[in-house]
Amino acid sequence: MLSNSVFNPMSPQAQAISNLTIFLMLVGLLIALGVTGVMFYALIRFRARPGQEGEPPQTFGITRVEIAWTVSPFVLVTLLFFVSVSAMQHSSPGQIALNDGARSEPRITIIGHQWWWELRYPSGVVTANVLHIPVGQRWVAAVKSYDVIHDFWAPQLGPKIQAVPGQTNYIWLEADRPGVYHGDCAEFCGAGHAWMLFDVVAEPMAKFKAWEQQQLHQPPPPQSRPPAMGYTSSEVTSGAKLFTYYACQSCHYVRGVNGASSQPTVDYGPNLTHVGSRSIIAAGAVSNTAAHMEQWLLNPDSIKEGVHMPNFQLSETQARDLSAYLESLR
Ligand code: CUA
Repeated sequence: MLSNSVFNPMSPQAQAISNLTIFLMLVGLLIALGVTGVMFYALIRFRARPGQEGEPPQTFGITRVEIAWTVSPFVLVTLLFFVSVSAMQHSSPGQIALNDGARSEPRITIIGHQWWWELRYPSGVVTANVLHIPVGQRWVAAVKSYDVIHDFWAPQLGPKIQAVPGQTNYIWLEADRPGVYHGDCAEFCGAGHAWMLFDVVAEPMAKFKAWEQQQLHQPPPPQSRPPAMGYTSSEVTSGAKLFTYYACQSCHYVRGVNGASSQPTVDYGPNLTHVGSRSIIAAGAVSNTAAHMEQWLLNPDSIKEGVHMPNFQLSETQARDLSAYLESLR
């Protein structure tokens, strides 16, 4: 079965949508077979035969037939209407569900940016593009936009939901089984739209809590931080200097550089406080490896055309040092 497909649902919400899709396709297929069947029957049964002259006998106004083809589509469309409404109720929180007090408190706020996803948890965790949820729990997620209209969609977990500037939309987030579910932005939002991907990591509650604790933890200062991905400590400390020299912190929050709060005071670019622990960078355009991070820093446009991050014309050594610093942020 295809992964990342509506035909491989992994939540009750996605299941409702998948069932509806299959049901609609079957109904459509039956109608198509019926119409073409009658057409071929008529073509053969009433074909012109040798010796036949002129027009065949014409019939007008058979009341019974006219009633049949008026009433049957009406019944069919009414049935489809109720089936669709039922699927909508099962896949999205309606106003009734949202008015349900504490249970409808958003457990996560998802904010679309050109071209990445900001993820804010009530616990104070703020991260980007890799969304962690505990498996088997139904969360209400609030979906917003920082700039233009985006569309949050994890096909295996539920419906699309638009991120509209100045408006909050709600969605249920739930996964039946642990796993990583891919999603993307499903509405054209500018040059980087195709690379506005995300991952939903569904994991057991204990693992989720551990992740949350790790995200709330402030990384130690660069000189006392273990280097990652084969870099050295001296590369990490030189990278830390380059980070402030190039004023990266004016777009990206790093706890300990911009301030001590876990709440970012800068949100133009993703919070980088734990960027080294994320599986993807550049909103899923590439996996988080040392080589990809260096390429990204040397020329962001080569990975995501149109990206708002400038090319700082770094040397290869500078890109290496800066990458060492970023990958040590865990
Ligand atoms: Cu955001 Cu398309």
